[in-house]
Amino acid sequence: MSHSPWWHGATLYHVYVRSFQDGDGDGHGDLRGLISRLDHLQWLGIDALWLSPTMPSPNHDWGYDVSDYRGVHPDLGTLDDLDDLVSQARERGIRVMLDLVPNHTSSEHPWFVEARSGADSPYRDYYVWAPPKSDGSAPNNWLDDTGEPAWTWDKKSGEYYLHNFLPEQPDLNWWNPSVHAEFDAVMDFWFDRGIAGFRIDVANGLYKDAQLRDNPKHDEAYIYGREVQGRYGLQHLYNFNRPEVHEVYRHWRRRAERRPETPLLLGETWVARVDELAPYYGDNDQLQLGFNFPFIFAPFEAPALARMVAESLAAFPEGACPIWAGSNHDLPRMATRWAEGDDRRTRLAHAVLATLPGTYALYYGDELGMTDSDIPARLHRDPLTAGERNGQWPRDNARAPMRWDRTPGAGFTTGEPWLPLPEDESVNVTDQRASATSTLALVRALIALRNEKFAGEVAEYREVEVSESRWVYTSGPLTVVASFSAEPQRVDVAGEPVLSSATVREDLPAAGSPPVLRPWEALLLCSA
Ligand code: NOJ
Repeated sequence: MSHSPWWHGATLYHVYVRSFQDGDGDGHGDLRGLISRLDHLQWLGIDALWLSPTMPSPNHDWGYDVSDYRGVHPDLGTLDDLDDLVSQARERGIRVMLDLVPNHTSSEHPWFVEARSGADSPYRDYYVWAPPKSDGSAPNNWLDDTGEPAWTWDKKSGEYYLHNFLPEQPDLNWWNPSVHAEFDAVMDFWFDRGIAGFRIDVANGLYKDAQLRDNPKHDEAYIYGREVQGRYGLQHLYNFNRPEVHEVYRHWRRRAERRPETPLLLGETWVARVDELAPYYGDNDQLQLGFNFPFIFAPFEAPALARMVAESLAAFPEGACPIWAGSNHDLPRMATRWAEGDDRRTRLAHAVLATLPGTYALYYGDELGMTDSDIPARLHRDPLTAGERNGQWPRDNARAPMRWDRTPGAGFTTGEPWLPLPEDESVNVTDQRASATSTLALVRALIALRNEKFAGEVAEYREVEVSESRWVYTSGPLTVVASFSAEPQRVDVAGEPVLSSATVREDLPAAGSPPVLRPWEALLLCSA
């Protein structure tokens, strides 16, 4: 077993494949396109890619409705393309992770088609079926992600099936050992092809209460008022976060560790509080990483962020590695959500994310300071949030194509982009690569500094000072002084300034004199 897993101190880059680079002119990003951008990603210095779903799917939820767990979606390429991506990325020191969707399949997956054929189908028990209540209504009060009943009536068999997301995404029945065996085999299939790990979709789902009890009502404000869990007035007590799921991850972890190079299991652990997240690390014997939504949803204020970091580090087991992210394909981008379009704050956010101990997760385009698009509803492509269907922001706004240059297709496509290009053409890779002080240059410098100071380690974090206007901490050999204020402020810290979020490396304050922090500036100093 390795004592220095590659994700410790590493940078993970999340590619929304359809929006990254089109290789064949059909307006959709694909694997060949991504391969053509590997040199750029190597230049950026990242360690691994997490690809948004790549498997065949009817795309009711852009790949989160899988119809074949061993294939590649024809829009994105072929299995050979994926193999090629894995080996070409490896040559550049970059690992490739896939998105695995074990909570549900597509309703077009052969298992579900079979299961639906009748109550005596051998696949029936792969899914969650239940008879109606005596009045014919759904088996319980659970609601799906759109706020509609989580049960769809199957007339033929006279039963309902469960879906925590769309009716086209029936939930698998993890009480059935055959489902476990299927996913063991699926994971082996990909690990044998050189896939370095999985981001596990709905990692806090999988098991459902065996008695299918009603969820209790709740009117609690969760995480700074945002209800990331228990939406639509119900607590997700019986359909998520069931205790049985932890044994699945212990099992997966044991299997992972039997491999010569331990694959990474990174959970989409969508829970509201840090004390609900920590159990997914177990005694450091379950998932090696779990996304920290309590941190992501914290307001961009020093006390709130620092509190989430402190709570996380206190709650996680010995040896655990945190992962820090500000954006993903389901949320408004951090440049919009946290920084409200203020570049100084976006840069500050990067400096913080990149210097906290553990793994730094970048969502494509964030390294440019990409903000959310404002895509008109008629051009929305995401069925789950179409028409504000599930009462949340339109996810398409955070999924706009990458701008590589100022050409008409932005270097993304020679065809018609599947989602409109971001409006601001100045936010593009070519221009930012040409500038020594761009956000891209800053992110690259941060990654280089991480590689130098943190590689293979979860740095030791110590909070030095937190107030409304600043957050000071040490992380390994670095001291980070982060201004959360629009006013300049003098700080008294020791160390040699090595990087500033405001200027990258130019114009750093001289060592020894107390620096004056510019508004929203993070100054990184080195003591060793
Ligand atoms: C979480 C994924 O990130 C999201 O995009 C998807 O809609 C749901 N899980 C359902 O798979």
